[in-house]
Amino acid sequence: MSSTTPETTAELHLTQQGGPFKLTQVPNTPSPPANQARLRLHAIGLNLLDKKQLDYGLFIPQYPFVLGGEGAGIVEAVGPDVKDFQPGDEVIAILSGKMRGFDWGGAYAERSNVLADGGFFAARKPRNVGMGEAASLPVGYLTAVAVIAGSFGTPLAFLPELENAGVVPSSVLVLGGSSVTGAAAIQLLRYAYPSMPIYATSSRHNFDQVKAVGATEVFDYHSPSIVADIKAQTPGSKGVDTIFDFVAAGASQTDICDVLDPAGLKQYGAVVTGVDISVPDGVKYAIKDAYDVSEMKGGGSVFPMLTQLVEEGKYKLPVEVKIEGHGLESIPQAVEKLPKVSGAKLVITL
Ligand SMILES: NC(=O)c1ccc[n+]([C@@H]2O[C@H](COP(=O)([O-])OP(=O)(O)OC[C@H]3O[C@@H](n4cnc5c(N)ncnc54)[C@H](OP(=O)(O)O)[C@@H]3O)[C@@H](O)[C@H]2O)c1
Repeated sequence: MSSTTPETTAELHLTQQGGPFKLTQVPNTPSPPANQARLRLHAIGLNLLDKKQLDYGLFIPQYPFVLGGEGAGIVEAVGPDVKDFQPGDEVIAILSGKMRGFDWGGAYAERSNVLADGGFFAARKPRNVGMGEAASLPVGYLTAVAVIAGSFGTPLAFLPELENAGVVPSSVLVLGGSSVTGAAAIQLLRYAYPSMPIYATSSRHNFDQVKAVGATEVFDYHSPSIVADIKAQTPGSKGVDTIFDFVAAGASQTDICDVLDPAGLKQYGAVVTGVDISVPDGVKYAIKDAYDVSEMKGGGSVFPMLTQLVEEGKYKLPVEVKIEGHGLESIPQAVEKLPKVSGAKLVITL
């Protein structure tokens, strides 16, 4: 935190597609806009999207650009219309606003603004986790809810205000059980459905971790017999009702829909990854991202519920959190490691 002053903020600017990054001082706005809060960030969660943005310029309207989708910090100032937060509050936040056309966000900074009302982008930090762990939570949880509830309305009883008109699947296959989002989804499904068969895929060395968040059985996605192996485990070997794909696995595992029960719901919900997936005729397909929660009826109840679930011990860190560095200057090296991360979440502290 050496470079930031009361008048200026250190930001890590991506200067052009492919880099380099440049540590830059920018003047602080005297007061945040009406419904925004200014955060002093203490930890930043890294996401694979950050690396895709660096390499391909995805969702970057102009350079220089401040990357970074999530963080944890302390409210320094609030705009006049903010009712939910006040200076001194510890919060967790979704901070990728600028890539969605908003005038706030970008977590690779020592200060960032966030839309602070409505419950969509900022929530109180759970008291029982530190800043580093807290910064790892928002994107994984919100994306998992977006895919589970947003794709086909699969009800999540702990979110009673969220629209939930879908049919409850009799069984689910989560592709990417050791990914942050996939592990979050397994945990939320298990909490909502204590006895539902939840199958998942990961590398063998992550099986125990994936079972620990609630999977009934885990399968190695490198195995050539994975489709038959999963089907054989399902009740009556009929197959699963619904697939949730958190890692675009369907793009390479092109026969994965053969695990669907032909007499079942035949649903395939995927997270937006930038990779196209095609499913056979007759399979219902939906693709969602974290921001879709803010468009759902009752979406404002989702992020605040994360705080409650963590404090009540009902939602734990879905994967191990690795503090990969300290200070904005440690980010460029950490971002390069993202594609090789297995069953963990990288966080930078400030
Ligand atoms: N649009 C959005 O709102 C949004 C939000 C979050 C994430 N995403 C996207 O969703 C994807 C996942 O993000 P994340 O943060 O959860 O990723 P992550 O944790 O970095 O994903 C790494 C994990 O993916 C697993 N994996 C890779 N290929 C797999 C396959 N074919 N089958 C099963 N598992 C596989 C690896 O498992 P093993 O190590 O066990 O092999 C590894 O643990 C990324 O593409 C990301 O950009 C989008």
